[in-house]
Parts: sequence; C-alpha cells; structure tokens
Amino acid sequence: MTTAPPLALKVENLSCTIGKYMPIADVNFHLKEGEFLALLGPTGCGKSTLLNSLAGLTKPAKGKITLFGQTQNGIHPRVGYMQQSDTALMPWRSALKNIAAGLVFCKNNLQLDKATIASHSQMWLTRVGLAGLGNHYPYQLSGGQRKRVLLAQTLIRSPALVLMDEPFGALDVLTRAQMQSELLTQWDSEPFSVLFVTHDIDEAMTLADHIIVLSAAPYSRPIAHFKTDFPRPRSINTVRYTSQYIQLHADISSALRSSHIPPLR
Ligand SMILES: Nc1ncnc2c1ncn2[C@@H]1O[C@H](COP(=O)(O)OP(=O)(O)O)[C@@H](O)[C@H]1O
Ligand SMILES: [Mg+2]
Repeated sequence: MTTAPPLALKVENLSCTIGKYMPIADVNFHLKEGEFLALLGPTGCGKSTLLNSLAGLTKPAKGKITLFGQTQNGIHPRVGYMQQSDTALMPWRSALKNIAAGLVFCKNNLQLDKATIASHSQMWLTRVGLAGLGNHYPYQLSGGQRKRVLLAQTLIRSPALVLMDEPFGALDVLTRAQMQSELLTQWDSEPFSVLFVTHDIDEAMTLADHIIVLSAAPYSRPIAHFKTDFPRPRSINTVRYTSQYIQLHADISSALRSSHIPPLR
C-alpha cells in the first residue's frame, strides 16, 4: 500500500458569506506539499473572499480548512499571504523595513537578532531587484516596485504555503513577466506550496502545476480542473509558444466562458 503524499491544504465544503451574500459555496479542493495550484475565476467570483478565509483573517460560514494535517485555527505561522492590494505595506516604514516586517511581525516569533534581520532583508531587497531603493518609502515607489516589496516581505520567512491574490495583476507586461520569473526561480530552488489566485489564463498556465476554474458568483465553486505538465524549470519566454500550450489555453478559455452558470440554489 502506498501512502498518500502529505497535503498542505485541504478545503472541504467551504462556503463564505459577506453579510447575507454568499460568493463562495461548497468549495472542495486540496493542495499537496510543494505543489503550485492556480485558482482562476472571473472578477467578483469571490477569490479574495476565499483567500481571506484560508489565511485565517475571516471565518467561513461553513466547511472545514485543514493546514498541514491540522484544522485551521486563525493565522498559521507557516502560511504566508500576499494580499491583492499593496496598501498592505506600511507607509511609515521604508522598503527595507517593510521587508524586515515579514520576519519581525510573525506569529511563530523567530527570535532573530537585529543583524540577522538586517542582512536577510538586504538580501531579499536585492533578490527582488530593488537594491539601492531600501530607504524609499512606499509612496516613493512605483506600483511594480511596491509589489516587489510585498513579495519579499511574504517570502522572507520561508513560508511552507504561500497564498497569493492576483499578486502581479496591475503591472505592465514586462514587469509582470519579471516578477513571474522571479517567483518561478524562488519556487524552483526550494519548492513551497503555492495557491495562486488570478483571472489571467496565461499567468495560471505559465506558473502552475494544476489550474482550478471557478464559476461566477454567487455560489462560486470549482467547475473544471486542468493539469499543466510543461517541463520545469520553465522559462516564461518559451513555454507560451508550443502547440500544447495553445490547445490547453483554448480548453481553459472555454471553461472560463462557461463559468457563468446558474447558481446551485
Ligand atoms: N464588503 C463587501 N460588501 C458587500 N459585497 C462585497 C464586499 N466585498 C466584496 N463584495 C462582493 O463580493 C463578491 C466577491 O468579492 P471578491 O472576493 O473581492 O471577488 P474577487 O476577488 O474574485 O474579484 C463581489 O461580487 C464583490 O462585489
Ligand atoms: Mg480579488
């Protein structure tokens, strides 16, 4: 008998409400350790609502969330959350201090000394291409640079599971491609589990191992599942020009178009 690979995340019969409105209903899926899963759904289908629940920021109306084999109970020390809005950055802290915040304000209290925090933060600042901008405050950075700070702040404490909510959504094409490459490089060097929320088919296909398509709200739920087995390490500059890619893109587009299905109840 073979043992099942460990799960980073298991979501069972999960429903989320905002007041009386229920964007997410009866959602079931799981994510294995070290796997990259993309959730693809139309705008407003409840992706951010779902991630807020998985991150432990809000309580779901119904259902169960299991993280690393244990029932979720609020914010988990091994889970990183890169929220959709870059207002998650602290405007009174420099880029470097915002990155350091990932180590300083964390639930598992890493007890690192100041010198270690400073050198780690500097390393991450360079890694996300912001060397020399460490003393800039968020208002002095472009949207793309702020996203880089958020990425470094999230990854600096090596979370075992990273929840990412349209992290590169508002960026120009070139910056977006750079950020995607940076994420893939990090992930290839030390695979962590990623739940990546996006409404962009190309982004999901380029990055993920699996793609789950969500239906439109209300009562959004998974309606299709695709495996993307392009070889790794992937180069985002080459993977998009294969016939296999084009076919899969057409299939996912079709699933997304059919996502406006009648509600369950
Ligand atoms: N505070 C709120 N009050 C009422 N409705 C909300 C609120 N926040 C979000 N919504 C609605 O809930 C739905 C899901 O929102 P959201 O999770 O942000 O979707 P997504 O991230 O997929 O774009 C949307 O239709 C949105 O208009
Ligand atoms: Mg959202």
